[in-house]
Amino acid sequence: MQVTKNGERMDIRALWMEGEKVRFIDQKVLPHKFEFIDAGTVEEVARFIEDMTVRGAPSIGAAGAYGMALAQITGSDVQEAAERLKRTRPTAYDLFYAVGSMVEASGQGKDLVIEAEAYVSRIADKCRLIGEHGNALIKEGANVLTHCNAGALATIDHGTALSPIRAAHRSGKSIFVFADETRPRLQGAALTSWELVQEGIDHAVIADNAAGHLMQRGEIDIVIVGADRIAGNGDFANKIGTYEKAVLAKENGIPFYTAAPVSTFDFSLKSGMDIPIEERGQDEVFYVGKERICPEGVKARNPAFDVTPARYITGVITEVGVLEPEELDRQKLST
Ligand code: MRU
Repeated sequence: MQVTKNGERMDIRALWMEGEKVRFIDQKVLPHKFEFIDAGTVEEVARFIEDMTVRGAPSIGAAGAYGMALAQITGSDVQEAAERLKRTRPTAYDLFYAVGSMVEASGQGKDLVIEAEAYVSRIADKCRLIGEHGNALIKEGANVLTHCNAGALATIDHGTALSPIRAAHRSGKSIFVFADETRPRLQGAALTSWELVQEGIDHAVIADNAAGHLMQRGEIDIVIVGADRIAGNGDFANKIGTYEKAVLAKENGIPFYTAAPVSTFDFSLKSGMDIPIEERGQDEVFYVGKERICPEGVKARNPAFDVTPARYITGVITEVGVLEPEELDRQKLST
């Protein structure tokens, strides 16, 4: 992704390996500070996934792959490292896919630094291809709605949902993006908006509950979101609030797409209802920043993801093209 740091334009990924460390863009402090932070052990990588220094399905997968490379470098037990990394967050399939690939490579006696780099570059390239395929769906002058952050920060580079948006902008189309703020962690307001600023894409952040109104008034032409895990029947989990956007899009006759690389597809699950949904702590709901917004003594629920049934999806934008949910199968998506 193209970003400006200290007045200098640079092309960087959300995370990468530098010597015997993994370097991350610290997603916890954006958009106020643009800083890098390093992990040198499996435990540090695991904590960075847990505290969302790194987040977004493919980026979590990349962190898992690099974490496994660190396990080999530091002489840690590969199985224990894999179990620790897999315990960090339950919903995004990329983590399990990436760590599984590294365990297999380790069993074949391979160098996990080389394997992790190859894995990460492969997924980043698939995200670039998602942009090329998805660009064809975005018409000149389109208003695009997206939810959460499915940009380069979430996906190593390019983005999943944001990749077609970047590609449309770079190909000279005049487009406008509505970015849902995405309570409670505000990934849309903080991260998607930051990426769109970096890329010079015209946009507005909207409150999570504003999308229906804009759809009803004809102000949204297409919805593109990411995915954390796509089940065999095309149902998919994504950031909480995605499901209601899909239902509203159908009600208003607006095309609704999800975008994801092969690493997000979990063909072992028959239905989206089998996807494990992360429940996070109550404080994320009680507080906005450091400010408590609820009375003391009340309860909160904080499911981090929801499942959108395949019947609401117009298409799935993948590295091999735009597929209808019922077209998804292993043959079409090979690594
Ligand atoms: O909790 P997060 O910030 O990791 O959730 C991220 C999302 O839900 C994204 O939309 C998703 O990972 C798909 S795109 C990378």
